[in-house]
Amino acid sequence: MPYTVPKLEDFSPASLDQAVRDLLSAVRQEATAVSGENDSREFRDRWMARKNGILTQVNDLWLKAAPGPSKREVGARVNQLKTEVEQTVDAAQQRIAGSASSARLAVDRVDITLPGIRRPLGAEHPIIKTMREVVNVFRALGYSVAEGPEIEPDYYNFEALNFPPNHPARDTQDTLFVSGQEKKQQRDRLLLRTHTSPVQVRAMLAQKPPIRVVAPGKVHRADTADATHSPIFHQVEGLAVDTNITFSDLKGTLDHAMKSLFGSDVKTRFYPSFFPFTEPSADVQITCFKCGGKGCRLCKSSGWIELLGCGMVDPNVFKFVESNGYDARKISGFAFGMGVERITMLKYGIDDIQLFYQGDVRFLEQFA
Ligand code: DAH
Repeated sequence: MPYTVPKLEDFSPASLDQAVRDLLSAVRQEATAVSGENDSREFRDRWMARKNGILTQVNDLWLKAAPGPSKREVGARVNQLKTEVEQTVDAAQQRIAGSASSARLAVDRVDITLPGIRRPLGAEHPIIKTMREVVNVFRALGYSVAEGPEIEPDYYNFEALNFPPNHPARDTQDTLFVSGQEKKQQRDRLLLRTHTSPVQVRAMLAQKPPIRVVAPGKVHRADTADATHSPIFHQVEGLAVDTNITFSDLKGTLDHAMKSLFGSDVKTRFYPSFFPFTEPSADVQITCFKCGGKGCRLCKSSGWIELLGCGMVDPNVFKFVESNGYDARKISGFAFGMGVERITMLKYGIDDIQLFYQGDVRFLEQFA
């Protein structure tokens, strides 16, 4: 039978004692039976709720009902009783809260003997890797590194590189133009740079001769994506200008660079070519590093692989930067430009340029 507050027959100390003892033994017994958080809330409400909790009933049935002369005595006992009931209820609540939190701790316990979660390390993208390798070969020769914007006015991408307006040489670089530029003069119209060569002009405007710079960066062409073409790709440009720079310097420098990049066994050859901003111009070919020059699939049986364009800076280019000390009668220079994707594909035997842009970790992690 759950405890209920009795009406007191009389208010003598003896019957008060009895009533108090019964109540305390009831609250203590109920307290030991409390288990779980719901129980503990119910227990507290049963005893201490303002509205009709047992202590409130004690107030009504014992204290309020007490006749005048006993009020003082009853009041004192009821107060003490309240304190004891409160303590018992608090203790029960703390016991429950304590075991709930240790239950939660037990669930959350970390097993430090389990193997950790391995987080895969990031790695350099193969294009960036090659770009840095190329740049480092030239840095070791004393070249500094320059960069330019990917959106250029026509002037830097073409005109100052000796592509006259409407000259057919422009058609060799399928250009992506920024729209809404028709009102501007042609030289001011913006386009996505088709090569890193405009950085040559910017570097010469920023620094008087002598100058030795390489310029790595992203370029754009209106090409449809396939296994060997991408509308976005990367180049490394180079420029050296000083007094008495000759074609021998160009050959020696690029021969050294190709041996550094592809192995000391490769040989280079300079094949006549044309670029508006160099005269004479050449394509650099290296002996096939796969077959050693005998002829194979990689070099299309020729024994040679074409890698980059180069030449002696055309005096017409110097005219555009003459105001910064580039007087074609006193100085000369050479320039070169190479495609980073092409070099990376040859180096690692990759047959599809699109693999570089797909972000497939199975491909990329091979270069980590
Ligand atoms: N800009 C040329 C291209 O994208 C590559 C090039 C050729 C750069 C000859 C040069 C150079 O600096 O001298 O096809």
